[in-house]
Amino acid sequence: MIYQVYPRSWADSDGDGIGDLPGITARLPYLVDLGVDALWISPFYRSPMADAGYDVADYRDIDPLFGTLSDADALIARAHELGLKVIVDLVPNHTSDQHAWFQAALAAKPGSPERARYLFRDGRGPRGDEPPNDWQSVFWGSAWTKAEPAVLVDDGNGATFVKRKAQWYLNLFDSAQPDLDWSNPEVREEFDSVLRFWLDRGVDGFRVDVAHGLVKQEGLPDWNARAEMAGSDAEGMHTGAAPMWDQDGVHEIYRAWRRTLDEYTPTRADGSPDPAGERILVAEAWVEPIERAALYVRSDEMHQAFNFHYLNAHWRAEDLRAAIEQSFRGNDLVGAPTTWVLSNHDVVRHASRLGLPVDQPRPQGIGADDPQPDAEPGLRRARAATTLMLAMPGSAYLYQGEELGLPEHTALPDDVRQDPAFHRSNGKETGRDGARIPMAWEADAPAAGFNTTGEAWLPQPEVYAELAVDRQQGVEGSTLELYKTLLRLRRDRGLGSAGLARLEGVDADSPDVVAYELVGAPGSGSTADDATRTAVVLNLGPEPVALPEGEVLVASGPLDDGRLPTDTAAWVALA
Ligand code: NOJ
Repeated sequence: MIYQVYPRSWADSDGDGIGDLPGITARLPYLVDLGVDALWISPFYRSPMADAGYDVADYRDIDPLFGTLSDADALIARAHELGLKVIVDLVPNHTSDQHAWFQAALAAKPGSPERARYLFRDGRGPRGDEPPNDWQSVFWGSAWTKAEPAVLVDDGNGATFVKRKAQWYLNLFDSAQPDLDWSNPEVREEFDSVLRFWLDRGVDGFRVDVAHGLVKQEGLPDWNARAEMAGSDAEGMHTGAAPMWDQDGVHEIYRAWRRTLDEYTPTRADGSPDPAGERILVAEAWVEPIERAALYVRSDEMHQAFNFHYLNAHWRAEDLRAAIEQSFRGNDLVGAPTTWVLSNHDVVRHASRLGLPVDQPRPQGIGADDPQPDAEPGLRRARAATTLMLAMPGSAYLYQGEELGLPEHTALPDDVRQDPAFHRSNGKETGRDGARIPMAWEADAPAAGFNTTGEAWLPQPEVYAELAVDRQQGVEGSTLELYKTLLRLRRDRGLGSAGLARLEGVDADSPDVVAYELVGAPGSGSTADDATRTAVVLNLGPEPVALPEGEVLVASGPLDDGRLPTDTAAWVALA
């Protein structure tokens, strides 16, 4: 199980209102107690923070807001001492506009080797004043920014002619995030070296940002649609038809990276590779259909790819079943384990998302003027969704604070919002700030224990104090204790690598019930006799349903006379 730490918002050791690496290191024992295997840390590199660090100015240094390289070394060393793996975020699709390469490109001439590391093109129209094609940025507006105007020359007779058309550069995200040109071998060499830099420092893997975007279709043809990525619904995700996403050429990049990572796999005494020490690659790839997404996790490419089907599914039994079964089908095609995720720093937290009307498309942020989620069913469903998810074989990803049932901040004032999508869309897209609020550790401390000064780069809603770690630790029935129990049982019963089948019989056949049986092998030396049989049952219908015979191991909410009420999930040890 991998826990996502969003470093700005997890723990702030120096009290400036922004979380930092020493803050993370100090809180690592909390993750051990929770039952986490690895943490993935969102970008902490030197950055002007135009997109909260996903705009990297120096891939080999830490931003002063977060600390220093020796803080990173200390974090990695402490995590390893505690038995935690560390996955860092790699952002290869674009750099910051403050990166030395981009600054050199701006200073150099059109056609120069400096410009060839990015996607500079002449504009359309007589003077090049129109963008080179019609691509739209994920963060709204044109995906092109003008780098310099046309060069006009006076012909001496009062007329001017165009000596050079205006040049533009491609930015699929913010204009402060110019896209690199991955057909340039220099770009490939640079990222191989960045991988080695962090591998040498001991990291256990990389989460690869926008893994489906690095290669663009030859000729950059018009496309006539917005390059939406974390689409508002499953239909919003893009297929190979889009010239900026999921081009076949990306796979060669990941094959090369895999070879680099494999060089770092330690060997056992007999000289064979030790899988326990394998360094891993995880793709953030919003790709449809699932057969295309599976290509990223072929045996010589990445180890895992985020699977957003479950996250995108509507709160209906048939949709959840379809998302789960489709996920297995996709990954079975290539023999890779699937992954599960319900929340991250880009989507509305699931405790709030699931409190919205069921048929509504997944929102991209919630603002004070939008219909507000219903907190009680939201949290009930969130706990049930997690209980179902953590029974599933594969790798589960949790987002900081979901173990407390933290909701989205749905009433942030516009003047504190930082998401470039909010600003570029003139507020049409509320954006992701509401999911990125500083963590709640202690109810009665300043900024709910995020630091000791009470400063916070985004304000916390009042409810965060009530949900703080110290209010839930050791409290029976709390969301935190539910997560701990689920994670302990998941490990003890070997569910992460269990075999899965639909559960038949009892009330499991009801159309409103999602039910599976898992056969798990606890521990590496276990035999068929040690196998555990666990049922996971989720009821979405209005009436309580019977659970299969056996011991109820855990339930996401109170049972009703031994029966499973609406929006509740349970695990049962089958006899
Ligand atoms: C995906 C990241 O998760 C998101 O936060 C970021 O804005 C974009 N990639 C661009 O890097």
